[in-house]
Amino acid sequence: MAPIRHPRSSRPHLRTVSITGVGSYVPARILTNAELEKMVETSDEWIRSRTGIRERRIAAPHETASDLAYEAAQRALASAGITADQIDLIVVATITPDMQFPSTACLVQHKLGATRAAAFDVGAACSGFVYALDIASHFVASHTYDTVLVIGTEKMSSVVDWTDRNTCVLFGDGAGAAVLQNRPNAHGLLTTCLGSDGAKASLLELPGGGSACPATADTVAQRLHFLRMDGKETFKNAVNAMVSAANEALSRCEIGIERIKCVIPHQANQRILNAVAERLGASDDQLFVNVDRYGNTSAASVAIALDEAVREGRIQRGDLVLLVVFGAGLTWGAAVIEW
Ligand code: UT7
Repeated sequence: MAPIRHPRSSRPHLRTVSITGVGSYVPARILTNAELEKMVETSDEWIRSRTGIRERRIAAPHETASDLAYEAAQRALASAGITADQIDLIVVATITPDMQFPSTACLVQHKLGATRAAAFDVGAACSGFVYALDIASHFVASHTYDTVLVIGTEKMSSVVDWTDRNTCVLFGDGAGAAVLQNRPNAHGLLTTCLGSDGAKASLLELPGGGSACPATADTVAQRLHFLRMDGKETFKNAVNAMVSAANEALSRCEIGIERIKCVIPHQANQRILNAVAERLGASDDQLFVNVDRYGNTSAASVAIALDEAVREGRIQRGDLVLLVVFGAGLTWGAAVIEW
């Protein structure tokens, strides 16, 4: 078997970075397609055949993105065998922060009692977890910090327009977390590739509430505080960007898709997952899917899937894992990890 190239470990002044613990949390409330049939003009058959989604989780009114993040983080810390006071930095990927500021990362820092930790948010929509993983990994690689907590958390139900059948059937709430540390003699994160194209920002956006369109009674009446998406164009861009990011990451490691034990794509739509897997040449056994149970949880999506894949025994120590994501921005990214 040809050797794997480890682009990061070949730089002697940098440390390798491993994921030493994962965890996830989804709210208890399940919203089924049958319930959506009573809310908008849709059908279980349409939703399942166009998206693969059967149900999604919805946070309680009092449950915020930082609450979901806290639960996922506690599980990731337990899985890494560390306590909150060991965390040096918390990076939270979200597009549904508890509020405009302070950052959700700071709210999580307080809830965890991570008194030594610096904290900030990353906004890269559904690509957020891989963006955050990449950013966080450099702090460990450069010896700046030893222990970084990366979280993807979303309360998408708070920005979904429940009268718009084009979007309300697609999204769900949840959070996933990972602890990054140097593990001696392990290669860990082999490579990451990120990309963006702001020219296509309008394909998927939440226009109201920012400096371009501050909240007024009028912006509320125009429903500008809900997300909007051009589904068809987003779909095409998602497949192309995810395939090229994944291929770029594989080629940097000088490996083919057959070497990957588990492919974990952003869980947006079963048809997108199938198209990406087919174009990459990945088999059903390699592809991890949970979009049927959670819908699209944006920045939390691959983080939840990674935790489930580990807990289900789909990933063992030494296996190669491919994460591949796409989201508003547009943004996209891929990461290859030796587990
Ligand atoms: O996470 C970030 C990335 N997000 C994505 O990647 C999502 C990408 N897009 C998609 O997943 C798909 O485009 C959708 C699932 C959103 C839509 O699937 P589609 O096959 O592209 O459907 P469409 O937009 O072409 O709509 C087909 C028809 C339309 O009716 P007409 O115009 O043909 O009469 C829609 O109005 O389906 C109608 N429709 C629905 N019908 C029943 C749209 N939503 C629904 C619905 N129930 N919920």
